Amino acid sequence: MTESQVFGRILDRAGRADPYPLYAELRKTPVAALEDGSYVVSTYREIVALLHDPRVSSDRRNLAEHFADREPVPPGREPPFIVVDPPEHDRLRGLAMRHFGPPGSPDLVKGLRPELTAIVTELIDAIAGDRRADIVESVAYPFPVTVICRLLGVPREDEPRFHAWSTEIVESVGPGERHVPWAEVASEGAGSGERHDKPERVRRRERAAEALADYVRGLADARRRAPGRDLLSGLLTDDGPDGGMSMEEVVSTVTLLLVAGHETTVNLIANGMLTLLRHPEVLERTRREPDLVVGVVEELLRYEPPVHFPATRVALDDITIGDTTIPRGAPIVLALAAGNRDPDHVRAPERFDPCREANEHLGFGGGVHYCFGAPLARLEAQTALGELTRRLRNPRLVADPPPYRPSSALRGPRRLLVDYDGVG
Ligand code: HEM
Repeated sequence: MTESQVFGRILDRAGRADPYPLYAELRKTPVAALEDGSYVVSTYREIVALLHDPRVSSDRRNLAEHFADREPVPPGREPPFIVVDPPEHDRLRGLAMRHFGPPGSPDLVKGLRPELTAIVTELIDAIAGDRRADIVESVAYPFPVTVICRLLGVPREDEPRFHAWSTEIVESVGPGERHVPWAEVASEGAGSGERHDKPERVRRRERAAEALADYVRGLADARRRAPGRDLLSGLLTDDGPDGGMSMEEVVSTVTLLLVAGHETTVNLIANGMLTLLRHPEVLERTRREPDLVVGVVEELLRYEPPVHFPATRVALDDITIGDTTIPRGAPIVLALAAGNRDPDHVRAPERFDPCREANEHLGFGGGVHYCFGAPLARLEAQTALGELTRRLRNPRLVADPPPYRPSSALRGPRRLLVDYDGVG
């Protein structure tokens, strides 16, 4: 198989349950030139180098013209800071951070712990009378959504509306043909038969992105008149040392946080429960030693990360790695999940081992775009997996593998049916 064929199979939905053998194939060529002119990087060291390289942009406006059949950001909308480069990126991220706490900061985390446990407890109580539950529907999805809504100041009861838009946007996120406002649009793969619907899919996605931005704009208008104690109000009213965000910057930031905050952690919790059920000895040990959940979550971010491909990068200059030169203007796809299992970086990479000494992984990316929500995501996953492990009696998988969501970039089960003998 050529590298392009390997990558095509990775994007194909048919292989979503286990892309790891294909990643191993891809790593044989650390920097692979694909037939469409883009480059896929799959080894740990090379990915880390590019994440920290100032010649690598996250801004699609830097793509060479022949890749630019991609939509510009529609007029009136600002690109979210995940696809903006420094110094503009740093200004926006810094302003948002004033209301969120820096990555690794215990402030946000410490204060939220009791509230998070209360939310998870209520969700697990609701399935106490059953003997079978879909863990995605009952815990993994509603939990982070409730949390991000509270933090941002988005009414929880509006969830059915923004969930539909957000799903429309992320179901197709991934490396491929074109871009959506906050990240990338995937080709769903050669085997899926969806390629010819592309214009319709792109239109649907654009409409969803527009509707979500309109919704957030409406909330922002209301908060400007009557501010609350939430992040949305904070962004609207707070002027940092060099001024605050414009209304459209607030809208794009809150939209980004809303989507990122509720389409990623769901996969970490669901991938986590699936992995624990496939490793009953680890599950049992976590039940006996609750502190082990910290190592479990860290190892999950390496072994089954929710984000396989971050926003596609662009080379701002010719970049030579080994004997390959990525030309200026070319798209660069960073295969984070392949890097996480690189045997030159980690010993026994195919083993799920929550007791690894130094677990340096790419689960939250790296460099200036390192995940903004990492402390929150870690705490959410620790709380949910800790409580599920402690309370579900004798949990068993109903189907292995479970059905997966379509996206190759944000990967996780669509449903995770589990049988159990009651709830403690
Ligand atoms: C960025 C992963 C949860 C907000 C990223 C990136 C990754 C990632 C890999 C880097 C993207 C890139 O380089 O293009 C995850 C995972 C999560 C998670 C695996 C859950 C398990 C969250 C949460 C929030 C969040 C809960 C918000 C509350 C963001 C934002 C960025 C980001 C705003 C962009 C940062 C920047 O451009 O400076 N995340 N994330 N994430 N994440 Fe997360």
